[in-house]
Order: sequence, then structure tokens, then C-alpha cells
Amino acid sequence: MQAWKHWRLEHTPNASDHSGLAFLYFDKSYADGSEKTNTFSSEALHELADVCAQLKRNPPKALAIFSAKENGFAAGADIDEFTRFKGAEEAFAFTSLGNEVFDQVAALPFPTLAMIHGFCMGGGTELALACRYRIMDDGAKSKMALPEVMLGIVPGWGGAKRLPELIGAAQALDLMLTGRGVDGKKAKRMGLVDDVTPRRHFANAAKVFLAKPRAPHQPAFREAITNWPIIRGLVANMSRKTVAQRARKDHYPAPYAIIDLWEKFGGDPRAVPASDPISIQSLFSHPTAPNLIRIFKLQDRLKALGGSAGAAAGAEDFHIKHVHVIGAGVMGGDIAAWCALRGFKVTLQDLDHGRIAPAIKRAAEAYKKRLKLPHLVQAAMDRLMPDVKGDGVAHCDLVIEAIVENAEIKKNLYAAIEPRMKASAILATNTSSIPLQELSIGLARPERLVGIHFFNPVAQMMLVEIVEGPGTSAETMQRSQAFVKKIDKLPLPVKSAPGFLVNRILTPYMTEAQVMLAEGISAETIDAAAKEFGMPMGPIELADVVGLDVGLAVGRELHKPGNPQPARIQELVEAKKLGKKSGEGFYKWVNGKPQKAHGSGTVDLAPLWMRMTLPAVNEAVACVREGIVADADLCDAGIIFGTGFAPHRGGPLNYLRATGKEKLLAEMKSLEQQHGQRFIADAGWATL
Ligand code: NAI
Repeated sequence: MQAWKHWRLEHTPNASDHSGLAFLYFDKSYADGSEKTNTFSSEALHELADVCAQLKRNPPKALAIFSAKENGFAAGADIDEFTRFKGAEEAFAFTSLGNEVFDQVAALPFPTLAMIHGFCMGGGTELALACRYRIMDDGAKSKMALPEVMLGIVPGWGGAKRLPELIGAAQALDLMLTGRGVDGKKAKRMGLVDDVTPRRHFANAAKVFLAKPRAPHQPAFREAITNWPIIRGLVANMSRKTVAQRARKDHYPAPYAIIDLWEKFGGDPRAVPASDPISIQSLFSHPTAPNLIRIFKLQDRLKALGGSAGAAAGAEDFHIKHVHVIGAGVMGGDIAAWCALRGFKVTLQDLDHGRIAPAIKRAAEAYKKRLKLPHLVQAAMDRLMPDVKGDGVAHCDLVIEAIVENAEIKKNLYAAIEPRMKASAILATNTSSIPLQELSIGLARPERLVGIHFFNPVAQMMLVEIVEGPGTSAETMQRSQAFVKKIDKLPLPVKSAPGFLVNRILTPYMTEAQVMLAEGISAETIDAAAKEFGMPMGPIELADVVGLDVGLAVGRELHKPGNPQPARIQELVEAKKLGKKSGEGFYKWVNGKPQKAHGSGTVDLAPLWMRMTLPAVNEAVACVREGIVADADLCDAGIIFGTGFAPHRGGPLNYLRATGKEKLLAEMKSLEQQHGQRFIADAGWATL
């Protein structure tokens, strides 16, 4: 056995058990146990180059590479190293290093095999691609992906070259441009891996496979031709069209760069001139990559808020096994279904069976789509139990109340259930606007009341606000955060104030859009302006999707005296035109699509998006000043994961920093003169 800081090599040429094979284990910083996940730092890459040199001097019959970490093969490049780059040239040097080392792996003069379990992302997949063969674990949690596009960069360590060669350009571009992961079964079907087997058989599987290695995988003819020079341009153009439907080039240059890199430079970033807009230097100099990398790190920070932070009630000992959800409507039904999907025992209560049945039906359909295998669907359904009588109240560890948005009705319910709850059980409300101060009146134990505020649609929205009322105990907060992490959502602790964080920041933006509509600017133009800023959907369309009744209620709750209250939304609600769900709102909806009359024409959209987004930025400043959220980074994370706010801009406060305080304050002043007090800069700007 030979050991480096991050790698261990077992190579016993004459030992009977290995028959001349070498086993290499990737085990980042194993000696001090400081890393649970394998990532490629420069140091780990340099060591791998040493391993290659050693293996060349003393070649085994074949080599198998394993990860010694429980969670997966490798998560890709060390993102912390990215954030320390002092300039684009350092980013390029890191890219070149990875390329050179993986080229050395690819050039080893004997069969090489990657044994992949758990997550295998970015650089992990690129190392696996540099091997001659790949075997993958068959578990649902094992995933291979090249997700660089999500960080605003390209698969730069040979992935953009080797993946198209292995499985054809059409499949490879699809994986690289979406960043999506594939499990073992799918990977085998695509030709990405040679075999699939449970991890517990890995050592044996590697020996058997390498005892008689087959010819390396070749793509089928119909896949191989997508790499041919005459077809290449066609495939590239088709991919560009698909990408254009999802992302603008000025906001997200990376997907376009991936296509060019493959089409024009054979997937090798070292061949791209530094001045080319698709070079590593250009991508790292563009604001999008640093912003997306920051968001990626903020996501980790949110996850950590549900984990080891506060060891007293860490992720593993938060004592929640049984969740009782009251209210089986849009939110409660889906919250219950999600918790059962994630392994919790769930009882679901409503006023009668007829109101619970649709939620159970929705859950069954969702489970079939997600879980596919009938025994898994059945197990999830068995965990989700209708409970009209509310028997679950007495046995559960967590009640999630999601009944109508009415403080009196909610308080009456709490008075009825609190005496029946276990002493240790948490009482959570999904209210979107009622302050916890009010809901806690009359409770015997206000310390266990917390807001666990999900966003709609529950299955898709990552963020969950954990709302701290004046009486909420630290233990209740911590257990709630740990619970939310356990159901694979991102917990964001916020203070209880009207609208909490996300709705409070979103509302002035949505209201301004409606004021503009009332002034005669078309819905289509307003939505186009927001999309030009980078919102995934315009505010008028979004209002229709959320439901105008919901939007009206939130808008009223958060209305500030002296600000305009657009009348049209109320007229539409009175006419039962509630948006997408009723077939008409601001737009008419046909087959789930808004019927937009025209594009935005030649209108200059920048002043329009400036006018809509600045009230949101201003509110974000106020939230940080008031301590609604711990800091500006978490504020940005909340808005991005709760609403999809222009990710490439890195959130409202990052946008403020990037654009410059003075410039935006001047815009606010000018808007204040034109439109009034709602554009007065919050006191928080002064201390930014
Ligand atoms: P909904 O109207 O779809 O569902 C409410 C359900 O509660 C109904 O099925 C009703 O029969 C039931 N219910 C009423 N009183 C009850 C009682 N005493 N005991 C048992 N069940 C009772 O409402 P939705 O939209 O699901 O909202 C529920 C809560 O979630 C509200 O507090 C709302 O503010 C909040 N919320 C709503 C969001 C949305 O987009 N709709 C987003 C985030 C939070």
C-alpha cells in the first residue's frame, strides 16, 4: 500500500487475490477526517499525477479507481479553490492542470476502470471518462452528471471532448446543457457506463471485469454520426435553438460556450484563444459565473442551517418521525405528500373525507411519476394516512397546520388540539401572512409555535421559511430547520413580521407591475421587461399562476398607507377570474398557457424593469436592516430559492452591490419624483 494525502494505492503485483491488479482509492484528506466528500483541489490533482507516474514506472495488469467516501465517487472540482482565484488566468491554469492530469490517466498503458457509487459530478465524471471503463452502483442515489453549466462554466477537464466521443454528441450535449444527472440504469442504456452492480459487490466486480476486459464502448452508428464534421454544424445549431428557449446568451453564456467548445475546438478549452468569448478566462470574467458559484455556496449554507449547526438538535436527533398535517388543500395536501415521499409517517386531517381524497389522489399520481417501481409507490402511499378524526394529533411529533388563512379559525383549532399534543411535539403553521405574535395568543406553550412556510408548488420550490415568533424557543427553531433539511428542502430562518422575507420582497415588485398595467402598459410588455432583467417569468403571468385571490390577500396584508392599490386584481377576483386555475385572470389561459397578444415591440424595456425591481431591492435592504433575516447573503439566497429571482444577478442585494449604490439611489430619487413615496430609499441604504 502506498499513500498520499488524498489517495491510497494498493498494488501487490504477485498477490493471489488481485492477480496483478492495482486498486486506487480517492479519499480526500482521510488522515485528519476533515473532508466527507471527494473534491478535486490542485493538490489532489498533483497527487493523482504522481500516482500516474508511479503506475507507469511499475505498471499493474489493470487499475480500478474507487472512492473511499460513503457519499459518492467525487463531487467535482473544489469550489472553494474557485472562489480564491485572483483572476481569470488562475481559473485557466486550474482548468489546464485538470486536463493534463486526466490526460495522463487516459494515456495509462493498461486497462483502467472507474467504480462509481453515490454522486459523481463534474470532475468526478471527467475522471471516470478518462478511464477506459466504468461500472456504476445500481442504487437510486447514484448519479452521474456534468453540472458545470449550472455554475456558469463548461466541463473543462476533458468532459466536453470525451463524453460526445463515448455516447454521441446529441446525448452528450443534452447532459452537458441541462446538467441533469443519470442513474446507473440510464447511464448503461446511454453507453456512459459498461456495467451496473450493487456497491457491495464492487471489489469482486472490478476483479472479474478486469480479468477479461472487453473492447471499450463505442457509440452506435446513429450516435456516432452526430460527431461527423458534416453533421456537427447541424447538431450544434439545433442545440443552440433549444438553449435559446431557456436562457439568453447575455445572461447565461455557458451553455452557448459548451456548444461552441465542442463544435469548434473538439471540447478542449486549452485550444480556445483567451480573447474568445467562450474561453475559460472570458467565462470567469463574466459576472454570471461568480454569481452562480456564490449561489451554489449559499445553497450549502442553507443546508448547513438544518444540520450540524447547534449539535444539541442536529439533523439526526431532531426527534420527528410522525407528522400530522391539518388542512388537505393546495398546500397541506402537497406538504403531506412530500413528507411521506421523504420517508415520514404522515396523517392528513381535514373537515371531511371528500376534502382529503383529492390530495391522496394527487399524491398517488406524483409518486407513480417519481418512484416508478410499484413497491416503492405502495410504501409511500402506506406512509400517507387520511385521518378525518385527527387521531394523529395525540401521537405525532410535529403538527403542520395549513387551513384557511384566518387568524380566528386557526386559533380555535390550536385551542382544540394543543391539550392533546405530546409535550415534545412542535406546532407549526404554514400561514403566509399572519404574524406568529397573533397566533400564539392563548397557547399554553407558545415556545413550540413556529412557522414552517412552504412555497407553492410544494414539490418544486426548494425554500422553506422557518419563522421565529417572539415566543418560539431556540430548540423549536433548530428542530424545525433539521426537519426541513431532512425532507430535502432548504430551511431559511426568518423573524415573524408581515410577509416574512420572501413575500415581503416580492409584493412591491408585483404591485408595481400592476400599477404599470393600470397606466396602460401592456401585460406582454411588462412581462417581457421582467424577463429581460432575468426573471424566469413575468410578474403579470406569475400573478395568474399563483392565483389572483392569493395575490390580492397578500397584497392587502402588506399594503402600506399612501401606496397605490391596483383595482384590476380585485375586479378580476370578484368576477371569479382567478388566473390560471380558473382559465382566466390578467391573461386567458388555454391548455395551461397564457394567451399573449403580441411581443414587447421596440419599447426600451430597461426603464420598466428598473421601476419594477427597485422596490424589491429597497425592501430587501429594509429586511436586512430590521434583522428579518440574518444577513444580506441569506436574504439573496431566500429570494432566489423562494422565487427564482434572476439567478445570474445573484439576488437583489448582490445586484445592488454590482450596479453600485449611488447609481441605484439616483434611480430611486428620479422614480420617487415621478411616482411618489414608495420609491423613498429605506434607511438601510445609508449603512450599506
Ligand atoms: P386551501 O383553501 O386550498 O386549503 C385549506 C384547507 O383547510 C381546506 O381543505 C379546508 O377544508 C381545510 N380546513 C379549513 N378549516 C379547517 C379545520 N378547522 N380543520 C381541518 N381542516 C380545515 O388553502 P391553501 O392555499 O392550501 O392555504 C392553506 C394555508 O397555507 C394558508 O394559511 C395559506 O396562507 C398558506 N399558504 C398558501 C400558499 C398558496 O400559494 N396557496 C402558499 C404558502 C402558504
